[in-house]
Amino acid sequence: MADPILRPATTDDVESIADLFHRGWHDAHPGKVPDGLTERRTREAFGDRVARRVAETNETTVAEVDGAVAGFIMIDGDEVEQVYVDRAFRGSGVAAVLLTAAERQVAAGGHRLAWLAVVVGNDRAQAFYRRQGWVDEGDLPYPVTALGETFISPCRRFTKRVG
Ligand SMILES: CC(C)(COP(=O)(O)OP(=O)(O)OC[C@H]1O[C@@H](n2cnc3c(N)ncnc32)[C@H](O)[C@@H]1OP(=O)(O)O)[C@@H](O)C(=O)NCCC(=O)NCCS
Repeated sequence: MADPILRPATTDDVESIADLFHRGWHDAHPGKVPDGLTERRTREAFGDRVARRVAETNETTVAEVDGAVAGFIMIDGDEVEQVYVDRAFRGSGVAAVLLTAAERQVAAGGHRLAWLAVVVGNDRAQAFYRRQGWVDEGDLPYPVTALGETFISPCRRFTKRVG
């Protein structure tokens, strides 16, 4: 596999990111978050969300491998809000490259501590974050609004000192 190339997402990436986000979300979350939230996580909803996010902020970075989007991160201030790697690239090291970039971006924003929320029972993601030096700080009920309704996702708060 060629080394991943990291670059800011552009509007040309919106469909690829939304496809990957939709697939990855449904790999990791159904049964672990309220069913009403899972029902609202449609491909269309991810398309709208990614299009807005890429157009309005400069906080999405993609990892490209052989011309394909293999994964992406989204940052919001000191929060690493999304870390997603497509199925074919899991276990390949792309995730570590992306998370390291996310940590650098949070630090460059002037923050010393990065945090993220990971759903209780998303064992693969939690194992990955621990291996990358993140610390489980405990329960974090995380409010998520989808199509006008707010749901509480049972999460754990992970942190890492980055500055
Ligand atoms: C989370 C994610 C980015 C991690 O990337 P990855 O390439 O899969 O990560 P890695 O394979 O390097 O590491 C995963 C770890 O979990 C372990 N693992 C694999 N499958 C597992 C499972 N079903 N249960 C528990 N641990 C598992 C791996 O062995 C590895 O641990 P190790 O290095 O100690 O052996 C990726 O799996 C993903 O995109 N998942 C779907 C979306 C998601 O959950 N995103 C995070 C939201 S907070």
